[in-house]
Amino acid sequence: MEIGIYRDSDFSGIINLDSQTNDEKYTPQVYFRHAASIHADTYLVARDKDGTVAGYCIGGIIPKKPDEGWILRIYVDCQRRHGGIGRKLLEETIGVLEKSGVNKIYLTVSPVNGPALSLYRKYGFSPEERIKDYFGEGEDRFLMVRNKSPAEV
Ligand SMILES: CC(C)(COP(=O)(O)OP(=O)(O)OC[C@H]1O[C@@H](n2cnc3c(N)ncnc32)[C@H](O)[C@@H]1OP(=O)(O)O)[C@@H](O)C(=O)NCCC(=O)NCCS
Repeated sequence: MEIGIYRDSDFSGIINLDSQTNDEKYTPQVYFRHAASIHADTYLVARDKDGTVAGYCIGGIIPKKPDEGWILRIYVDCQRRHGGIGRKLLEETIGVLEKSGVNKIYLTVSPVNGPALSLYRKYGFSPEERIKDYFGEGEDRFLMVRNKSPAEV
């Protein structure tokens, strides 16, 4: 037995542990709460005047490479899609990351997620590679990257 830093090859083992019991039903809640602490400055929410949440985008900066970041997750209320909220959230998150010194932003997206692929392309993300079984068997993802343009750097 050894204790070590997480590596990619641990992913399926961790997912297996998470699905072992019905007690572990709060995985998203744990993630969304804790993301607010770890990514406090780059976790943006689109909300109406009355506080209703219409969408969110969680950005993150790689601690050991502060000029690189991630779009960890973006989501818009399905009743309110194609109304410009996703575009605004993504644009603002990119802006906040870049203002913090990030020059290169990564994300992953399903090769069959047309709306998200189209949105990301519009903001300068291009596919770097297709990673097989990224989220488990049959769940390939494109790794996409956006480099800040030289004029902006
Ligand atoms: C992807 C997502 C965030 C887009 O949010 P949205 O508010 O609907 O997006 P916008 O209205 O700002 O549209 C911006 C661009 O996205 C693309 N887009 C959005 N909906 C689309 C659709 N149904 N079909 C094709 N392209 C679409 C278009 O390029 C659009 O630009 P346009 O308005 O010039 O056509 C939203 O569809 C969503 O929450 N999807 C579920 C979660 C998800 O897939 N997240 C990404 C995981 S990687």
